[in-house]
Amino acid sequence: MFYYYGRKKQIAKHYPQPSHEMIIEPFAGAAAYSFHADNWRKEVLLIEKDKRVADIWDWLINEATSQEIKSLPDLKPGEKSSEFLHIIHAATKQAFKYKNIKVTPVLARNWEISKRIMSENLDKVSHWKVVCGDFSSAPDVEATWFIDPPYKSEPGMGYHYSSAMLNYEELARWARGRKGEVIFCEGLFGDYLPFKSLLDLKGVAGKVSKEVMYYQAEMKKGQLEIFS
Ligand SMILES: C[S@@+](CC[C@H](N)C(=O)[O-])C[C@H]1O[C@@H](n2cnc3c(N)ncnc32)[C@H](O)[C@@H]1O
Repeated sequence: MFYYYGRKKQIAKHYPQPSHEMIIEPFAGAAAYSFHADNWRKEVLLIEKDKRVADIWDWLINEATSQEIKSLPDLKPGEKSSEFLHIIHAATKQAFKYKNIKVTPVLARNWEISKRIMSENLDKVSHWKVVCGDFSSAPDVEATWFIDPPYKSEPGMGYHYSSAMLNYEELARWARGRKGEVIFCEGLFGDYLPFKSLLDLKGVAGKVSKEVMYYQAEMKKGQLEIFS
């Protein structure tokens, strides 16, 4: 729905399709997996620790109207903004640290695109739920769990709640204990679960970043009988 550093929009199609009625994203960000293709039709629960990000979702799900979004002002390169929703469109991970920003042509263009996407797709998220909190506060229910934390060993800059604040061994134990299906995203330094290579992602200036995934599926009730 909106631009977000580390969002999975370009690569959402490479992950397994959700096999459960509910999708939970305990590290929500812009929740590109839940929004992808027909996934948004499922029951979707987002959990996000950064209140500024959770508030954007709360606004999109519970308050905003298409007309209101369409009539938000466009941004002009050179002007300043202190709106968090504008700042995250700067296409840089430093953006999370800024209190205000000078609008660049890239930011202005990203904002124009997001305004259109948000206003045209508001209906798709109207049944979603968002909670501002730690991933560990997620309900212990059967679901497709799309777990996309800040990647291990990414230098301190970036998300307000960054990789430096996560205990990855604990996170791995927690993820393994989820009921249903677990799709877990990581990068080059993911070493705390048996990750398998997913793809090499080409970024700006020919920079390639490695995407890896850990996948775990539990048989659903009923399936056991077929196999026994
Ligand atoms: C890699 S981003 C998620 C990107 C998302 N999959 C998307 O498509 O936009 C990780 C997110 O986890 C959030 N986060 C960091 N620590 C968290 C925690 N302990 N509990 C919940 N969310 C957390 C960050 O604020 C950030 O928004």
